[in-house]
Amino acid sequence: MKLAVVSRGLVAAVAIISSVAVLADSELVQRIKPVGEVCMAGEACAAAVVEVAAGPRSGKDVYDTKCMACHASGVAGAPKFGDSVAWGDRVSAKGLGGLFDSAWNGINAMPPKGTCSDCTEDEIKSAIKYMSEG
Ligand code: HEC
Repeated sequence: MKLAVVSRGLVAAVAIISSVAVLADSELVQRIKPVGEVCMAGEACAAAVVEVAAGPRSGKDVYDTKCMACHASGVAGAPKFGDSVAWGDRVSAKGLGGLFDSAWNGINAMPPKGTCSDCTEDEIKSAIKYMSEG
């Protein structure tokens, strides 16, 4: 009698375990799993992750993402994109090297590196060239 109860319990336990296994694969579980699952580099799911572009960003990229905030409309007297007179005056006064120094270190309301804290020297130079030539 006791044995029968134990074995019936065992059958029930096995039934529960196998239904959990079926559930784990079910569409329902797929639908309710977290949206932002961690995906490690090298895993198949990581192939869908957009790689960060290697190599230097173009002057346009840096301008569009960082410098445009002020240089598009001329915030606080920033020389505007493509304004050849404003840029020309500055180039004649300081030369491109001088403009780079101010951009790199900051000048008045112009923050160091124009807020592009991870920009390289070449990226800042390209952005200045892009902005001043329009
Ligand atoms: C927060 C606003 C702001 C951002 C962002 C910004 N600038 Fe400027 N920038 C200014 C202002 C204001 C000036 C004018 C400073 C002055 O001469 O008083 C200026 C001036 C300059 C000058 C001329 C400096 C000189 O000596 O005449 C260069 C070159 C320049 N910015 C490059 C950049 C580059 C490259 C970026 C993006 C990587 C950038 N700036 C982002 C505000 C900004």
